Amino acid sequence: VPKESMKKASTFQELRDIRTNLHGTFGLVPTMGALHAGHLSLVRRARAECANVGASIFVNPAQFGPGEDLSAYPRDLERDLALLEEAGVDLVWTPTAEMMYPAGFQSWITVEEVSRPLEGKCRPGHFRGVATVVAKLFNAFSPDRAYFGQKDAQQVVVIKRLVQDLNFPIQIVVCPTVREPDGLAMSSRNAYLSAEDRRSATVLYRALAAAEAEFRRGVSDPERLRTIMRSILHAEPRANVEYISIADPDSLIEVKELAGPVLLSLAVRLGKTRLIDNLLLGG
Ligand code: PAF
Repeated sequence: VPKESMKKASTFQELRDIRTNLHGTFGLVPTMGALHAGHLSLVRRARAECANVGASIFVNPAQFGPGEDLSAYPRDLERDLALLEEAGVDLVWTPTAEMMYPAGFQSWITVEEVSRPLEGKCRPGHFRGVATVVAKLFNAFSPDRAYFGQKDAQQVVVIKRLVQDLNFPIQIVVCPTVREPDGLAMSSRNAYLSAEDRRSATVLYRALAAAEAEFRRGVSDPERLRTIMRSILHAEPRANVEYISIADPDSLIEVKELAGPVLLSLAVRLGKTRLIDNLLLGG
């Protein structure tokens, strides 16, 4: 039986009309497009677990700060649609910014404490934009499950909190970070890297992996891991470190002792490109 082709919705009403006629479990993969193997791993997982799979492509202006890369963010809608169709997505929504945030829009969602440290400190307002658009996507698609990458570790914490606090009947499925063969975490922003910066970009994973090896040796002082990561990052002259964090994976508060699971996370600038990566240890 030939597979029915992927349905495409532009307006909210078009999306609802198609969604209403899809029966059985629904899995959602929210994206900002510029798809890579990480996104496709989310679609594959959703395809394996759900009767229907939906995806959204929307570069959400509300999660970019002034002076950030909103206008430069890579966009290739035709390619993204072809990849989603090939991966077996049933329904894709590609709203415009005017549809998502029409004139008069003024209802924002702030997930308070877990939005504050790390990315929240470097990118004020970022998680308010993420939480608001994700809540809108959840309302639009009514998924049973929604799929996110561990690559954006704090985003996952924020979204889990949002789902719990606002009683969305949605299971959040977190999928492992997909890496290039040299360890660099897949990200749409890797496209910004010059050849030299691309070579230096392995420093994030090298720092995390060295700290992981030390963690496995059973050290109890998080400062030991911080020192290892700092020395590897500082040995890369092109890298400007924004933060190195060793935090509780749920509260994102920095730990004073390595007694349970911890989230190691980093943000590093290489030239104009800002990269993040993390490892969850002992989980
Ligand atoms: O992870 C992303 O691509 C975005 O933050 C998301 C979840 C699609 C919201 O815009």
